[in-house]
Amino acid sequence: MWIQPSLEVCESAHGRRDSDLIPVFQDSSKKPVPPKGEYADLIQKLKKSQAFNASKGSTLFLRFGGKGGAENCFLIGLGGKSELSEEKIRSLGGSIWQKCIQEKIESICVHADLLKDVRSLRVLAEGMILPAYGYDKYKTTLSDSKKEKQKGPEKIIFFTSDKSLKKKLEKELSEVQSLGFAVNLTRDWSNEPSNVGTPEYYASESKKLAKQYGLKCKVLTEADAKREKMGLFLGVGQGSEREGRVVILEYIPKGIKNPKTIAFVGKGVTFDSGGISIKPSLRMEEMKHDMTGAATLMGATVLASQWKVPNRIVAVLAFTENMPDGGAINPGNILTARNGKTVEIINTDAEGRLVLADALDLAQDYKPDVVIDAATLTGAVSVALGKYCCAILGNDENLMESLKKSGEVHGERIWQLPLFDDYFDDLKSDYADIKNSVNDSNGGTIRGAMFLKQFIRKGTKWAHLDIASTAYNISHVSYYPKKGASGAYVRTLAQFAREY
Ligand code: BES
Ligand code: MN
Ligand code: ZN
Repeated sequence: MWIQPSLEVCESAHGRRDSDLIPVFQDSSKKPVPPKGEYADLIQKLKKSQAFNASKGSTLFLRFGGKGGAENCFLIGLGGKSELSEEKIRSLGGSIWQKCIQEKIESICVHADLLKDVRSLRVLAEGMILPAYGYDKYKTTLSDSKKEKQKGPEKIIFFTSDKSLKKKLEKELSEVQSLGFAVNLTRDWSNEPSNVGTPEYYASESKKLAKQYGLKCKVLTEADAKREKMGLFLGVGQGSEREGRVVILEYIPKGIKNPKTIAFVGKGVTFDSGGISIKPSLRMEEMKHDMTGAATLMGATVLASQWKVPNRIVAVLAFTENMPDGGAINPGNILTARNGKTVEIINTDAEGRLVLADALDLAQDYKPDVVIDAATLTGAVSVALGKYCCAILGNDENLMESLKKSGEVHGERIWQLPLFDDYFDDLKSDYADIKNSVNDSNGGTIRGAMFLKQFIRKGTKWAHLDIASTAYNISHVSYYPKKGASGAYVRTLAQFAREY
């Protein structure tokens, strides 16, 4: 696992400086504005030669060879002040980080006074810290020194002579640092192969993390789940040698009377073979990521606790494995849910909704003000939306709007799909109250959500995030790893927990 760079604020440039990072704005005639200080002459020259025009998102890497000052420098073009979005700056941060790895940069010094704006500096830091991740835990042929080189800079220093900026920046950067840890925790969980990443493993990791971050943690075994009558959850795990676990985490904000309660509910299928309705073998290995909903909510809960958000969080993470042994559930079987409803199993590969149904019911016992679940629930979400956003469905427009807003703060897109009552017709069963799937591929994501809705009690505000499209292999975002878990929506969900 890679070591995260540390984020520091310094009042003056001191010691050996590897690379400077110089933000450069553009004037109305599309020419770079030479910044005050040691880079004025350089930018003036570049302006004349037209080698760098500081257009939005442009970068120039220069080697100086270490004669006084910095050894290298990144110029980043910000365009005109008005056209720059926070997401664009974050994405620039990601590209700079990739370049730092290529050029073997050891430390980077951001000239913060040239940008001044705390929010811009914060998102730049986010963009640089988020790509600092690699999953090389099982690479024995990679020498330690190779791993070392891949790490990128150990330090990101922000220079500023402005005392008030320094203070504000320190607070922001400490939040960014915890954001980096939380997202990487989610990525580590999601990337873990299922022979190690068993339900028991995530339960014991949860206990450790809960201790570390001051959260309450309760773990239900399958015997406990039986007492809780979680027949759908248990049904999914029936064909696996490994026992399921339900992890219940609780974050209680300090010094807040009667805080609101947010329930997070995560799908934690540690491997989804499809069960008896077995999946084709092509890319089945990706189904180790089928616990990413649970991993995302773990990361979000840890991050929210680090940010000391003012709301209480109860996170119910339901871990189990979907396998096809002789004890496995069969198509045609009828199971009874925790809430008493009976479900006819049409397709054992529609297991996520079964696991979530009982977990959603359990979560509602905590009397939450809102319930949000996250799950890699359907392949259909990628068919509908591609990899550029996840889907949201639910029963409360305001709640969904707030989640979308929290997403916008972090450049994580959420797109709403409809949940018209008519879709329920598809889920009517000849033999039980409802069925878990339909034998055609229409509206798969909506049907998944409509199934979940049957387990939401009257008056509970609920939203469902189908993150199957964005959970892994997101290669178009500069600050996500190209392969494996993205860690998307950890920041969004922690942000929601802060602002709700
Ligand atoms: N875990 C899968 C969904 C999935 C597919 C996630 C591809 C990531 C990538 C889920 O359990 C599943 O198998 N869903 C089925 C539902 C169908 C049987 C109704 C699907 O999407 O095909
Ligand atoms: Mn499945
Ligand atoms: Zn699944």
